[in-house]
Amino acid sequence: MKRTLIAANWKMHLNASQASLLLHRLHERIKIHRDIEVVLAPSSLVLQPMSMQIDRRKFRLAAQNGYHKDEGAFTGEVSFTMLKDLVHYAIIGHSERRMYFDESLEVVRDKVAAAVRNEITPILCVGETHQERTEGETKQVLHDQVTTALSDLTSEEVKDIVIAYEPIWAISTFGGEIAKPDDIRDAIAHIRKQVAELYSKKVADKVRVLYGGSVDDHTVGGYLAIDGCDGVLVGGASLNYHKFSGIVDVAYNLKHADGAS
Ligand code: 13P
Repeated sequence: MKRTLIAANWKMHLNASQASLLLHRLHERIKIHRDIEVVLAPSSLVLQPMSMQIDRRKFRLAAQNGYHKDEGAFTGEVSFTMLKDLVHYAIIGHSERRMYFDESLEVVRDKVAAAVRNEITPILCVGETHQERTEGETKQVLHDQVTTALSDLTSEEVKDIVIAYEPIWAISTFGGEIAKPDDIRDAIAHIRKQVAELYSKKVADKVRVLYGGSVDDHTVGGYLAIDGCDGVLVGGASLNYHKFSGIVDVAYNLKHADGAS
């Protein structure tokens, strides 16, 4: 049985004291769940102090980014080698990085390889723009993003990674346009199909695929019920401890309603 993964992407929010306060409140509110994995991705500045404060039975840390070279004259960058003792996961290829920082398919591939080389599990983000969806290009976009990103990995390495399907047009729209369950199910199935074609069905079944895009405590149950969806990547709602702990509660209740331990 795969553990449901609930990941908080704090993006460029919360300085060290704000992050420490939110973590403190989450510690009080969230219980230890064997079948739910809760991952927090604060800014890289805050990873070091959070790693000292965190209860590792409750939470794991993720980086939001990293540089694909291990060390060298790359002013301003933080390598996965530097992150390896601090984090378990790294978000790679988020649409905001692809859009605002021009991360190409190849850069994302190199970052995925660098994370794996440094024993950090990638949470690879993929997803189409609104225009790509309306032009019927969603499957092609997902194909290109998945196949390029994984191209330097062995099947042994791929089976442990996480892929987050985040349709760009559904990110932070709360109350606006949201992705329909059928569309998400199809996209997740398509992502797994790409992995199965590159490696095997067995590997594709092991990979955890998440959904991300305007998830909150009211909508998370619907997303987690989608066939093939192993968790969620939460942006805005993860900054609010009521909402985020509510999301973890829903995930827990769903697991236990299924009869899982
Ligand atoms: P929102 O939950 O704010 O839509 O953000 C989703 C996201 O980008 C998570 O990585």
